[in-house]
Amino acid sequence: MSLQDQIDKNNVPNHLAVIMDGNGRWAKKKGFFRIKGHEKGAKAVKEIVEACAEIKIPYLTLYAFSTENWNRPKLEIELLMKLLIASLKKELKTLQKHNIKLNAIGNLNALPIKVYNELFDVIKKTETNKQKTLTLALSYGSREEIIKTIKEISIKVKNNIISPENIDESVINNHLYTQNLPDVDLLIRTGGEQRISNFLLWQIAYAELYFTDILWPDFTKNNLFEAILNYQNRERRFGKTSEQIK
Ligand code: IPE
Ligand code: IPE
Ligand code: MG
Repeated sequence: MSLQDQIDKNNVPNHLAVIMDGNGRWAKKKGFFRIKGHEKGAKAVKEIVEACAEIKIPYLTLYAFSTENWNRPKLEIELLMKLLIASLKKELKTLQKHNIKLNAIGNLNALPIKVYNELFDVIKKTETNKQKTLTLALSYGSREEIIKTIKEISIKVKNNIISPENIDESVINNHLYTQNLPDVDLLIRTGGEQRISNFLLWQIAYAELYFTDILWPDFTKNNLFEAILNYQNRERRFGKTSEQIK
């Protein structure tokens, strides 16, 4: 039986988030410039988006560029932004084919205008796709998101729109970039590092974490299915006892 057939279709994560790491090391190992790794990484994105559509994962969120990544060499940033524009143009048809709506989270105003325009062009063209949501985290940092949230809520408190006693999880959720997304069920990080790197700190409070040494450009559909099978073998207790779950 193939890995895909072993997956329990009724227990796939509702929201899968992925830290796509290892492009640079992949390129270095092969003697290429780092950008080659990013290019191969873009192909892996397409493969994983399609695999998620096949096994009907409703929400997929990909960490594509962090607030900290602005500190990389200028040339790498420029090439990454160009690659982003090209990928958005190219993959519009993949999104349409699988009825996927594009969404973006992060400080999008910090993106170069050409990237911003292309991004919103694809978001607009896919906005009526209702089956699945692909969210790109771009210029995204969880701490920046939390600061933004606190500022917005503080202003509402100051203007008597919200009273401090009424601030609860849902108020916070509704001010995050992820306001339209459910909590993350499974977080995958490729590339061998076991850290979160400022990604969705609030939203992964009860996510299952899965780390793999595979570098992102080498990550295939079957690697994804392995991660899903691993997830399906876990018991998510949410603070309760095992007996209460059964
Ligand atoms: C992830 O790969 C892609 C981005 C952060 C844009 P890296 O570029 O971080 O690859 P490594 O970690 O250097 O191998
Ligand atoms: C995290 O990868 C960001 C993305 C995958 C976009 P990094 O390669 O930037 O993370 P650190 O700096 O090694 O933690
Ligand atoms: Mg990295």
